[in-house]
Amino acid sequence: MKKSEIGSAVSAIILISGYGTNLQAIIDEINKNLLPIRIISVLSDNPQAYGIERAKKSGIPTKIIDYHGFRDKTDFHQAMEENIKKLGPDLVVLAGYMRILSEDFCHQFRGKILNIHPSLLPKFRGLNTHQRVLDSGDEFHGSTVHFVTSELDSGPLVLQYRTRIRPTDDPKTLTQRVQLGEYQIYPLVIRWFAEGILKMVEGKAVFMGKKITKPKILEET
Ligand code: GRF
Repeated sequence: MKKSEIGSAVSAIILISGYGTNLQAIIDEINKNLLPIRIISVLSDNPQAYGIERAKKSGIPTKIIDYHGFRDKTDFHQAMEENIKKLGPDLVVLAGYMRILSEDFCHQFRGKILNIHPSLLPKFRGLNTHQRVLDSGDEFHGSTVHFVTSELDSGPLVLQYRTRIRPTDDPKTLTQRVQLGEYQIYPLVIRWFAEGILKMVEGKAVFMGKKITKPKILEET
């Protein structure tokens, strides 16, 4: 049995749609005994998601609920969310999951869903963030881990990775640099949650008993 399967206090389900490099970073930290969570399932809406292979290689149960196999979006959301509820995780981790969750689900799992978004939120919610930040002429870019609420990319912010934009940057170089930061901040925030030092209380992120009014920042070194 791999370390990522061994029992621990916090059970997590990870939702993916794609390549799964953030999922891999999380699995690697678990296997180094640095992240006290147990991944009980990796769920994907996309049958082609390479992250499914990564999970299988680590002996983690996987499930594909193919978005395109449903005529009605609502039926898809229901199937995905029923599956999560059946497993009853302590934490739901969105790691490159390209679908939204229903309002009801966000409400029911309030304070138990984390997401990583490739921008310095609240700037650049939505898609295509790397090109949009280049077009904006901003000095910095990065990625944000936040609690999920029913409003897209708008839940309480926890931790950001920040990198200075270089004159030579293009969307590809920015993606690579931002993602290297994601592999540091996402496992760290999940660890805080698993250790019980990060919570969502009355709609705010609270770290070690203090409300996070401005997201914490990890600068690129
Ligand atoms: C990440 O850049 C994350 O910020 C965004 O989607 C991307 C997922 O990449 N939400 P991967 O599937 O983890 O490689």
